[in-house]
Amino acid sequence: MGAQDFDRRLFDELIPLPDGTSYNAYLVKGSEKTALIDTVDPEKIDVLMAQLEAVTQLDFLIVQHVEQDHSGSVPAVLDRYPNAKIITTPKAKPMLVDHLHIDPERIVTVEDGETLSLGDRTFQFIHAPWVHWPETMLTYLREGKVLFTCDLFGSHLATTDLYATDKKRVYEAAKRYYAEIMMPFSSIIKGHLEKLARYEIETIAPSHGPLYDDPAFILDAYRHWVLDPPENLVVLPYVSMHGSTQVMVDHLISALADRGVRTEPFNMTVTDIGKLAITLVDAATVVFATPTLLVGPHPSIISSAYLTNALRPKLKYAAIIGSYGWAGKTVEQITGLASSLKLEWLDPVMCKGLPRKADLKALNRLAETIASQHQSL
Ligand code: FEO
Repeated sequence: MGAQDFDRRLFDELIPLPDGTSYNAYLVKGSEKTALIDTVDPEKIDVLMAQLEAVTQLDFLIVQHVEQDHSGSVPAVLDRYPNAKIITTPKAKPMLVDHLHIDPERIVTVEDGETLSLGDRTFQFIHAPWVHWPETMLTYLREGKVLFTCDLFGSHLATTDLYATDKKRVYEAAKRYYAEIMMPFSSIIKGHLEKLARYEIETIAPSHGPLYDDPAFILDAYRHWVLDPPENLVVLPYVSMHGSTQVMVDHLISALADRGVRTEPFNMTVTDIGKLAITLVDAATVVFATPTLLVGPHPSIISSAYLTNALRPKLKYAAIIGSYGWAGKTVEQITGLASSLKLEWLDPVMCKGLPRKADLKALNRLAETIASQHQSL
């Protein structure tokens, strides 16, 4: 069940969705009871309610995650089935009351590992906090070996494909999704992956994007993104107002290429921040390149530093380059914005006005340092 949202272009009023998204819900009928797993964003409530017209009995509404793109239609479903109970985690219960004003009497909480029988089908609930809020859980259907994962393993991709058949397209969408939604919690996801290794899984059914009938495809991708060391790659968010910083960016990219280091530059005035986030999944080094606006970095570079800090990628090194007219506190402001990153800051290269030979030599030294550090990864 659920709805495809081909037209949506922003999530959380922040994240670009070039391929839309979906809000998947799943109806599971047992010999005695019937359960609905998750609902849909309120924008698509009519789609879900039309699907439920053929469903006369609903005993359980399993809420795996309280964020409104999955829970926003819960009140309408409860109204339609007055005897249905919500099944959720103890942490989710007060959140459902706060965010949706659900009657607490209609909520039953389940502990990690607890089971629920529908007669000839049995769910086991797996608490999995921080994928993507603190209250989240997964649901394992023993018969059929289906793992329902809500946000985890999802992709912002609207498609008529039920399963991930166009692997290349789904991989890109799932990686964008991981970068923006899951990467801040990668150390916790590591534990979830270990826990899931104990389950025999034939199908992974997320609540965004297509299902996976080849679970290894997405599990291996997550292991790579979460566990493997970063790559010999520099991500370079930049802005140039009058060309000086652009000269530095071009020189650094060339100097890095000469030393065997790949760079992905992003002009932050035009870039899709999802592409920047995807590159942060793999990169070992970030270089922020900025002109000085008044006495600090360009606002678009402030935004990129803030976002990088929030996403907590596997970066090992960072540097700042740029130009200024008379003075500035660019370096202090960017390092302050990215203070949560556990990495080594390399010497900045800031030049007054248009770069001179000495500035370009300093960029060569920065490229040399990055290449040498990457070799040790
Ligand atoms: Fe798809 Fe965290 O909601």
